[in-house]
Amino acid sequence: MRRILVTSALPYANGPLHFGHILEAVQTDIWARSLRLAGHECIYVCADDTHGTPMMLKAQAEGVTPEELIAGVEAEHRSTYRDFMVEHAQFHSTHSAENREMTEKIYLTLEKAGYIAKRTIRQAYDAQAQMFLPDRYVKGTCPRCAAKDQYGDSCESCGATYTPSELIDAVSVVSGTPPVERDSEHLFFRLDAFEAMLREWTRSGALHPSVANKLDEWFNAGLRDWDISRDAPYFGFEIPGHPGKYFYVWLDAPIGYMGASLALARREGLDFDAWWGAASTAELHHFIGKDILYFHTLFWPAVLTGAGYRRPTQVHAHGFLTVNGQKMSKSRGTFITGRRYLDRLPPEALRYYFAAKLDAGIDDMDLSLDDFVNRFNSDVVGKLVNIASRCAGFIARGGGTLAAQLPEPALYEEFSTQRARIAALYEARDFATAIREIAALADRANQYIDAQKPWNLAKDPARAADVSAVCTQGINLFRVLITYLAPVLPAMAENAGRFLGQPIRHWDDVAAPLLGTTLATYEPLATRLDPKVVATLIEPDADAAAAPAPAPAKAAATKAAIPAAAATPSAAAAEITVDEFARIELRVARVVAAEYVEGADKLLKLTVDVGTEQRTVFAGIRSAYTPEQLVDRHVLVVANLKPRKMRFGLSQGMVLAASGDGTGVFLVAPDSGAVAGMRVQ
Ligand code: MSP
Ligand code: ZN
Repeated sequence: MRRILVTSALPYANGPLHFGHILEAVQTDIWARSLRLAGHECIYVCADDTHGTPMMLKAQAEGVTPEELIAGVEAEHRSTYRDFMVEHAQFHSTHSAENREMTEKIYLTLEKAGYIAKRTIRQAYDAQAQMFLPDRYVKGTCPRCAAKDQYGDSCESCGATYTPSELIDAVSVVSGTPPVERDSEHLFFRLDAFEAMLREWTRSGALHPSVANKLDEWFNAGLRDWDISRDAPYFGFEIPGHPGKYFYVWLDAPIGYMGASLALARREGLDFDAWWGAASTAELHHFIGKDILYFHTLFWPAVLTGAGYRRPTQVHAHGFLTVNGQKMSKSRGTFITGRRYLDRLPPEALRYYFAAKLDAGIDDMDLSLDDFVNRFNSDVVGKLVNIASRCAGFIARGGGTLAAQLPEPALYEEFSTQRARIAALYEARDFATAIREIAALADRANQYIDAQKPWNLAKDPARAADVSAVCTQGINLFRVLITYLAPVLPAMAENAGRFLGQPIRHWDDVAAPLLGTTLATYEPLATRLDPKVVATLIEPDADAAAAPAPAPAKAAATKAAIPAAAATPSAAAAEITVDEFARIELRVARVVAAEYVEGADKLLKLTVDVGTEQRTVFAGIRSAYTPEQLVDRHVLVVANLKPRKMRFGLSQGMVLAASGDGTGVFLVAPDSGAVAGMRVQ
């Protein structure tokens, strides 16, 4: 038995999981399940990546603390992973005691060993917001091609790269004021000390050859020291011995793999060092997207080595997912969240489709909605489930018990001896080939049944034994196929196990056929996808109202979350019953007082009379209204909303406003004559 620890990249805790995240988690989960079916210990851990400037600014814009922001997102991430059947032994957070412990320990070891250097750097500084600005938070005109509204690191129009100080008419995205330059002392990790080790590790089988070649380019360009500190204000861990300095999010993020393992080890009494110690004989596998290779194949193995831990056995990178041939984009409606999918369609259909697309390379993959529907309906419902449902009926009518012998043992052997190959394909991450070969076997099984025609045999009572034999053969071929697909379709495999009276636990379960046993009642294992429902996955804008949190904005500060309930044109919001609607207490309220909130550029603080009492409500309407315009107006409020603690105080309700097409925010008001306290229904 091998002992394996596996991870996927930690999703940022500033927005819901989208299809790119789901692709990666499903890839990792299929791989882990396939190794467990081979009898190995394979433990999958993950966590939310919670630190950094975007988190801090996003929380500010929403008027909540970063801790509140990440707690809400974590709950969404956990439930979405769970509903996609992604099985984590531990899902943790980088903002945890365990991760702080590991990060401090690793840093102090590196510092003691002489791997940390100090250097003063000059950086853009926002004097109004009183913070240093990451390159992406400075915008201005490109110094080369004069394109307007470009980020501080590169021009999207001509591709030039530069520093923020070279931008013309630069402004801070945070406050809108021109940034100044300021010096600050930073801490650097001396990556170049690890070049020899990294060159060797790169060629040790840890990386796919195409990835190893990419690394050669980086070696040739020269390894540069890595800036691992950030100045306050920053949401992260303060660096021991360096007050006012914080660990850069990308230092403590991969350490989050260890933080999650540590939490698991302590909870279950397992041995942390057996996974991470320098003498570990366990395997360590990281699944990531190709955009974060630099962090995982250079910095991470170097940090681990410098701090006296083991290196990853392998880093598995995948390509990017596009939807209908285009980059996922909110404006095109191709930015699909996991939850949006789950509200409409079964998780295993997407798992199957992703499996059919994934191989070990780093090419991008396209999700074509037509192809998705056809694949699942034809392969899984049409071929696989069809075998079971056709045969189950005849067996049930014949008493429910399988025959004592197979009529075609050689055909069964042909199927069951494929198990070593299928297991190897999964382990090599060539899921696409595995799926293709399993589908080809399903074709063979259907051909067998079509040739034997049990429906004809069944017309002749004298041939009952033949019907039983043919269907026993069919059920056994199905059992092999569903076992091979168990990593991809875990719930279906479990239900099939119940039907067969024997759970699927190991590839070798199929070494011998099931004979003479009684089957449970057959329940349909899958139903066809409706293309009309699938089409609603990409209706533009439809996520805006349903998403639990705005999607990850790379420059989060530019996008404000609006705590007023925004009514967005949404063609496909989930239906609710009259009773569910009645649980929402809408009331007419009169604005008694309104004021600006210091430090919140989106919010107004309202005092509203709801008929029975006065309440304080924070509303994200500052961009459209001044306090003076609001006093004495009537508005609609959700009166029975659970009070929310915000950074600026308690919000006891929600004011209704319309928005969503980018033209602004519009308060919703009752017709004249309505008075405070009236119920809206
Ligand atoms: N927080 C960092 C990772 C830290 S790991 C120590 C991060 N987060 S992310 O949310 O932006 O991305 C998480 C993972 O999802 C990454 O591996 C990334 O490559 C992957 N994907 C994000 N968008 C993707 C697609 N469109 N397609 C496939 N995977 C993509 O990076
Ligand atoms: Zn340019």
